[in-house]
Amino acid sequence: MGEDAGGGPEFVVVANRLPVDEVADGDGQRRWERSPGGLVSALQPVVRQMRGAWVGWTGSAGDAPEPFDVDGMRLRPVPLSAEDVDRYYEGQSNATIWPLFHDLVEQPTHRREWRQAYEAVNRRFAQAAAEEAAPDATVWVHDYQLLLVPAMLRELRPDVRIGFFLHIPFPPVELFMQLPRRRELLKGLLGADVVGFQGALAAQNFLRLTGQLLGLEPKDDRVEVDGRTVVARAFPISIDVAEVDQFAADPAVQQRARQLRTELGGDRRLLLGVDRLDYTKGIEQRLEAYRELLADGEISNDDVVLVQVATPSRQRIAQYQQLRERVEREVGRITGEFGDVGRAPVHYLFQSFGRAELVALYLAADVMLVTPLRDGMNLVAKEFVAARRDEQGALVLSEFTGAAAELDDAFLINAHDTDDIKRGILEALRADPQDLAARMRHMREQVRAYDIDYWARDFLEVLGVPGAPGEARQAETATS
Ligand code: ADP
Ligand code: G6P
Repeated sequence: MGEDAGGGPEFVVVANRLPVDEVADGDGQRRWERSPGGLVSALQPVVRQMRGAWVGWTGSAGDAPEPFDVDGMRLRPVPLSAEDVDRYYEGQSNATIWPLFHDLVEQPTHRREWRQAYEAVNRRFAQAAAEEAAPDATVWVHDYQLLLVPAMLRELRPDVRIGFFLHIPFPPVELFMQLPRRRELLKGLLGADVVGFQGALAAQNFLRLTGQLLGLEPKDDRVEVDGRTVVARAFPISIDVAEVDQFAADPAVQQRARQLRTELGGDRRLLLGVDRLDYTKGIEQRLEAYRELLADGEISNDDVVLVQVATPSRQRIAQYQQLRERVEREVGRITGEFGDVGRAPVHYLFQSFGRAELVALYLAADVMLVTPLRDGMNLVAKEFVAARRDEQGALVLSEFTGAAAELDDAFLINAHDTDDIKRGILEALRADPQDLAARMRHMREQVRAYDIDYWARDFLEVLGVPGAPGEARQAETATS
């Protein structure tokens, strides 16, 4: 879409984080790295294809650098002070809304000064988006950190088309009702023309709340507000299948996968977990199930090894620090009780990896463990499936992920029940290879049909945006 004749981009994404993170090297130099999390993995290919702009935070407190270009995208940094990071990002976004929207997996904290900072920072994002967008542009706002932005932006720029997408679950009505200033949050979202969710139930909860809290009259998948129609629907997000497939087809990545298997102990079966270190991901429950299987003698350190990759995340928040301590204690306990000299039952990697290394891990794995207690979608599950061109490997998947609705050929488990996680792992380890191949084939069909281009096209069509992504790539495929 690119630039409009009057200046300014015609397609603007607004998200708390930019796709790149400013990090300090050991020697005090600053450099840019890919930002963590599924939102960035999913949106980056869309914004790149649309040649759009991205308004967001650099991940560091202090003044924001001037706008700059990366990979065909224009990035417009929004500054956050140290106090904003403390109150808006770590406070209201990640210690109030995040746990409450994830079904109270941890207890949310409510603080008046966090809410005030949240409102002020949302206004700053709305202002930056309003300055950035061309006349009649499309602005697509993302996720729980920016729930108030759609209405604020509409006030500043009534000419623009506004979409909103929530990447995390939307809570049941009775949980949303616990939020202080709940009406303002709903009104914030209703500033959009289209509000997208990961699942149909989430959209229904939202529409019911507009009736209950604001006296509106939702009908089917829409609700009238101030003479406008707001559509609320499910748009399950996905991944850049072509990118993962390209890595998986690369002989160097395949070689690395073989090397990883050899280094981890030849013919031992490899179980793999890849998550941000977050209490919603069920990492502790997974480790407990694994330890009990070793203790019961159902599996042994001679036959099986677990690799758990845990991406550092939100490290200044107390609940995340406590989780890290508990996870590392459990890893130590398993190693101590069941390890042999030179042969560890669990390899724990508290690190970020490049895409090629992640795909090599997916290819090396026999069983992928995705056990969140609650997750809006879970892109790791879809990446694993997209990587397995060999149609091998088993996926153990929590029913409490958005992905479970689409990947029902996985070994589905209740992640709140250790016995059920154990059952899922054993079934996956003991499954007949032909059964595994059939399951993987079905899951691959699903993931390939509904990739990130499909998601963006679907959303943008409902929003009434022409020239949606994927067309260029489809044309490429048709002529090649
Ligand atoms: P969330 O958005 O909650 O972090 P998702 O599973 O939806 O969870 O998305 C996580 C994204 O982060 C995936 O694209 C995955 O490949 C990526 N990722 C996870 N762990 C790592 C890691 N250690 N290094 C690099 N990327 C990672
Ligand atoms: C999830 C959220 C994103 C967030 C990401 C990483 O994917 O939906 O909005 O960016 O986690 O979390 P962080 O707090 O590091 O941005």
